[in-house]
Amino acid sequence: MAAQQDRLCELLGTELPIVQAPMAGVQGSALAIAVSNAGGLGSLPCGMLAPDDIRSEVSRIAAQTSKPYNVNFLCHTPPPFDPERDASWRRVLSTYYQELGVDPPPPGPSALARAPFDDAAVELIAALKPPIVSFHYGLPPARLLARVKAWHPVVMSSATTVDEATWLEEHGADVIIAQGLEAGGHRGMFLVDALTTQLGTFALVPQIVRAVRVPVLAAGGIADAAGVLAALSLGAAGVQVGTSYLLCPETTTSPLHRARLASPAASHTAVTNVFTGRPARAIVNRLIAEIGPMNPAAPPFPLATPAFMPLRAQAEARGSSDFSFLLAGQNTTGCQQRPAADITKELASRL
Ligand SMILES: Cc1cc2nc3c(=O)[nH]c(=O)nc-3n(C[C@H](O)[C@H](O)[C@H](O)COP(=O)(O)O)c2cc1C
Repeated sequence: MAAQQDRLCELLGTELPIVQAPMAGVQGSALAIAVSNAGGLGSLPCGMLAPDDIRSEVSRIAAQTSKPYNVNFLCHTPPPFDPERDASWRRVLSTYYQELGVDPPPPGPSALARAPFDDAAVELIAALKPPIVSFHYGLPPARLLARVKAWHPVVMSSATTVDEATWLEEHGADVIIAQGLEAGGHRGMFLVDALTTQLGTFALVPQIVRAVRVPVLAAGGIADAAGVLAALSLGAAGVQVGTSYLLCPETTTSPLHRARLASPAASHTAVTNVFTGRPARAIVNRLIAEIGPMNPAAPPFPLATPAFMPLRAQAEARGSSDFSFLLAGQNTTGCQQRPAADITKELASRL
């Protein structure tokens, strides 16, 4: 157990085998800086950031910590825009446009869509040379990954099945993040579509550990020091924790999201595609309850998003989270309004 942990810490250059999960939409550099300075690995999610923001946020991290940090990108293949699919999705949402008195946005992909890792992104981060780079939804094409590997960062990516883990190892990942079904946020699944293939952390981690040689991080449902110990005794070299950081003052989690996380509603989550087109675990709210959790009309990721954005904006302006994307994992018991350094140290307190 200790040998795996030491190997991971040596590889990442961290004191603790605790990785703060990158969480697009709810955090920027402040959370990453706090966790890295506390001895864990802080992460910056870049999947929803414009190039200038990536540059300034990474520069901020590099200026405010001398410790290692991780930058995270998505690597999906953007689907072509399908006007018919988009129209049927709008029909599903039409009663809500009427109820809230908002106009649907003009048809077409939105500029706000989550962008995959591309030549421009590699150009940008090659100048900053982050020591660790992680990916969600597989790995970028070999040509781009070779450019990343040129500055010898540690490359990590999420696997949701044993086959995805062995694929990632064969294609150049140095660390595998075993993402159990309990995890908050988007499923990292990239070789499979069926949710029936998705395993809980307790079943997934030991099977991946047996199948690969690289260190494995356990992710999904880990919310306290006992959970960390359990993950390590299943053979994980460390953990990646997201949900437990959501209420930290260093995050940008919205007030409505915070209120839901702190309420009994947080104990009811579901894997849903109604916000982006890809399965993601979120707290069940009105939209998920009424048209989800999985709706076959939702266009593929990330094209489902633009059509519901006006509903979300209008509802939130009225103080309602009925149409908000309230990402969270199944275990929200670790969510506390405390500095991220305290959460990190507490997670590591039984090591
Ligand atoms: C709000 C939120 C946003 C997330 N965004 C990302 C992301 O941008 N990139 C990524 O690789 N993983 C993302 N994840 C998934 C995490 O990497 C990780 O699998 C998950 O947080 C672990 O489970 P836990 O939330 O139960 O700790 C997100 C998770 C949450 C809760």
